[in-house]
Amino acid sequence: MKINIVQSASGKANASALFFVKKSVQFSDVLSENAEKQVESVLNGMENGPFEDLEYLEIDNQPTIFVDAAKERGLSALDHLRMAAYRLAKKASKRQIPMVSIMLADAAPEQFKSVLHGLHYADYKFDAYKSKQKDAFQVTFEIVAGEQANEFKKIAKDVAVEQKAVVLAKNLINTCSSDLTPAEFVENANTIAKYTPGLSIKVRNMKQLEKEGFMGLVTVGKGSSHEPFMITLSYDGTKSVRGTKTKDANARSSSDHLVLVGKGLTFDTGGLCLKPPKSMPEMISDMSGAATVLAAIQAIATLELPIKVSAVCCLAENAIGNKSVLPGDIFKAKNGKTVMVDNTDAEGRLVLSDGLAEAGLIGATHIVDIATLTGAMVRALGYAVAGFFSNDDDLGLKVINCGEACCEKFWSMPLEEEYADALKGNFADLKNTGSDAGAIAAALFLQEFVPENTAWTHWDIAGTAFVSKAWKYTEFGATGFGVQTLIELAREMSN
Ligand code: BES
Ligand code: ZN
Ligand code: ZN
Repeated sequence: MKINIVQSASGKANASALFFVKKSVQFSDVLSENAEKQVESVLNGMENGPFEDLEYLEIDNQPTIFVDAAKERGLSALDHLRMAAYRLAKKASKRQIPMVSIMLADAAPEQFKSVLHGLHYADYKFDAYKSKQKDAFQVTFEIVAGEQANEFKKIAKDVAVEQKAVVLAKNLINTCSSDLTPAEFVENANTIAKYTPGLSIKVRNMKQLEKEGFMGLVTVGKGSSHEPFMITLSYDGTKSVRGTKTKDANARSSSDHLVLVGKGLTFDTGGLCLKPPKSMPEMISDMSGAATVLAAIQAIATLELPIKVSAVCCLAENAIGNKSVLPGDIFKAKNGKTVMVDNTDAEGRLVLSDGLAEAGLIGATHIVDIATLTGAMVRALGYAVAGFFSNDDDLGLKVINCGEACCEKFWSMPLEEEYADALKGNFADLKNTGSDAGAIAAALFLQEFVPENTAWTHWDIAGTAFVSKAWKYTEFGATGFGVQTLIELAREMSN
């Protein structure tokens, strides 16, 4: 796919696309009077057929593709545009149309942004494991932007950076767990740090983790032949990145330090509390949180957002081996609290206890942890909505708003104190299971490890990270959920 943003149509396109909602055409101020009449009769004919979404008709002697921008249920207007652009790009590629023009001269910037995201999503494929790689037909989209051409070009650059991050996260998540071990994940992060100006990296291996008392990762990771790691990536957009001050950095005086913490179980067998076969294959995605924070900080640094951001990836494999943690074992976490491992399958919260501790050590003022944490969240909210928890109303509101701007749905869940006692251990301070409200129990457990006086939000993406059937702009597999909202949150906090 290629995207050209132009002021006025080159006349070289093989077809033009018109988005419509019900019977009205969107962004249509360039149509001739005659064309307007034709379009009107087409749209009127749509009600009971014969025209369907994506029909290919002649309007003003120009082949025109009609795209329904209100087809799916439950989506916001911006997400409808993403979907419409996604379907258009899929269709154009399938029909091998070399060049399609889209009239967006009177679109608002966020509408234009949505269309671009939709086109990019259609371009994703994960065929690393196919014996034959087929090249999709390359379509060029000419976006007619009128007077907004310069502004749209800038936005297109930002969208390309965001989508590159989404693709990075999806590729990592979709890769087989035997190929993406914790050490392999570290290799990927090292490469990204090396090629992203302003991004630095620190890696702790098993020996260092043990020495420094990051015992959650050690406890979970010691059962596997692949050792656990903790990665800390740092970017300070309030300082110079490429020898010059970053954009707007002079105007900033905030001392915010946003730390993103990701669950990175490269595979989760459940450990000795083994998972049933049916729920196991999806556990290749149990490192989605870590992939998401890595991808997000790469984009944040590339966009040179004027804010200080770090990302902590807690990487381990939850496997069965002769050193696996036993149910009933007790360990001392980094913040001094002791934890009895009641269920070896509730491992995410154990590795995250170390990520939260690290966030405190590096001076976080705001923490977002993101994790495929509980099956309970999948049952509560399904694949379309992520549940989040927060100890800070202002941060919680930002999560919802930033999510909305990126077409990612978040639902606020309670840190219900009444269930906190259920986490008490008998011999230890805490145990890693609690009340039947499983997603809340996990969040309350994490709260025990949040550094004092720190605004914190926990995102449980167990339902939204990976889909087993087509959902919106994902056919199967990793969705990249959360990457864009994290970037948007950093953008919002830097304003
Ligand atoms: N990785 C799983 C949660 C999960 C389930 C992610 C489904 C994606 C899809 C997590 O480690 C887990 O197994 N949690 C247990 C906790 C329980 C044993 C307290 C769960 O939710 O069943
Ligand atoms: Zn588990
Ligand atoms: Zn897990």
